[in-house]
Amino acid sequence: MSEQIPPGVFDILPNDEQHPWRNSHLWDYVETKIRETARDFGFQEIRTPAFERTELFVRSVGEGTDIVQKEMYTFEDKGGRSMTLRPEGTAPVMRCVMENHLDQQASVQKLFYISPMFRYERMQAGRYRQHHQFGVESIGYGSPEADAEVIDLLYTLSHRLGLKGLTVQLNSIGTSDTRSTFTEALKKYLQQHKNDLSEDSQRRLETNTLRILDSKDPKDQEIVANGPSILDFLDDEGREHFEKVQEHLDQIGVPYEINSNLVRGLDYYNRTVFEILAHELGAQNSIGGGGRYDGLLKQLGGPDLPAMGFGAGIERIIQTMLLQEVETPEPFHPTLFLIALGEKARKSCFSILHDLRQDGIPCQMDLSSRKLGKVMHYADHVKATFVAVIGENELESQIVELKRMSTGKTIQAPLDHLSRILSVESRSDEFFKIWEEMNRPFEHPTEAEFFINRLNEAINATKGVTHELQQAMDEMKDLL
Ligand code: HAM
Repeated sequence: MSEQIPPGVFDILPNDEQHPWRNSHLWDYVETKIRETARDFGFQEIRTPAFERTELFVRSVGEGTDIVQKEMYTFEDKGGRSMTLRPEGTAPVMRCVMENHLDQQASVQKLFYISPMFRYERMQAGRYRQHHQFGVESIGYGSPEADAEVIDLLYTLSHRLGLKGLTVQLNSIGTSDTRSTFTEALKKYLQQHKNDLSEDSQRRLETNTLRILDSKDPKDQEIVANGPSILDFLDDEGREHFEKVQEHLDQIGVPYEINSNLVRGLDYYNRTVFEILAHELGAQNSIGGGGRYDGLLKQLGGPDLPAMGFGAGIERIIQTMLLQEVETPEPFHPTLFLIALGEKARKSCFSILHDLRQDGIPCQMDLSSRKLGKVMHYADHVKATFVAVIGENELESQIVELKRMSTGKTIQAPLDHLSRILSVESRSDEFFKIWEEMNRPFEHPTEAEFFINRLNEAINATKGVTHELQQAMDEMKDLL
């Protein structure tokens, strides 16, 4: 086949049996949970373009980093400018904040994004050349609570998605002074073991010494384990900040482990850095990571504001959910599937379909001229709650038989009243949500009192309705 997808990227489909993590309903579900969680933590959505001037990434992510050195999709546009497909989300958000003077609208900006990122990476499981990130950037707060809040957000999201056994790794890499002193000490130590280091790490010794700390090579890890720790190089302020972050995480029950070798692969970080790992994922086991980057905005020519954020890979989150076999929702399905027998019925069904959709009832019909068997097969495939066959007889009597597919039970429904009957089906979820809430035990009198008061208010407001409801029920009984 000549038209093939490029290496390292993938499609997200309604149904991919071979790669279930690529099923679009799972992406929809996870993105909905992301939006809910971001909203609960007070973050607002921001969308920036898929490409920016190359310079932006070189200046922020850092010239010596793998991303800038090896992984950027850089091209010259027709005007001769160098552009780069966004390899990460923080730099574009900073550019956007500066350009739109968001800091002048409010001194604190809590922003989130769900966007594709592009990196020309060596291909391996869990590493793609286009991946999708949920990222947050909390700009304006320098306090340790802001660090804990951002870590808590990713932890809460993982929890809400049903993920278990995740590890939050935490470190502090201090100020740039801390890092230069530490890098010198580390370099000195590693020079003594240079010949035993992996090829990659030998190269990094001069260009990006800190990255050797998170080398995956077992021999490198052994050497690093006996070397100096950055935590011993923090100044008093840095140490106090780091201790406070830990106190806040303890306070809200977010478990973490300190990993003094965690340095992250982008240059803009200072102080707190963290990653959340899922061990099921193998080598590429970080579902998300981030940290504080207080100097970045100023360095790019903007205001001097502290900031903290993370990026989390949606591919890896969904893959972990499936590996852990967490409960996920079924794909969306229509309430009704109509099957028309004959041209006349087909025309009527087309109008019925339109009318039902105006009332917000998800429904479908077959628009082909296939044989009944094939259409039935398709109706089964889309998993409609009800199926109704409409032919000459139904048009004449104006009554259809709705077959509930899960039980095989049928009910007779006048065509004129289809919408009302089916809307109960669509809305009953809401009722069950309230009912579930009432059935949960109340553990404190204040809570129970609040609920009783709310119920009483609701009951008082509906006294008139109750009376009318009773009347309506009586009338309905007369109808039967
Ligand atoms: P990052 O660690 O480069 O950080 O990426 C964040 C997350 O994106 C990773 O933990 C991983 O889950 C996912 N990811 C990265 N590269 C790939 C890939 N090639 N394939 C699949 N998933 C991948 C950043 O990008 C920072 N901008 C995060 C940040 C925001 N820091 C502060 N604010």
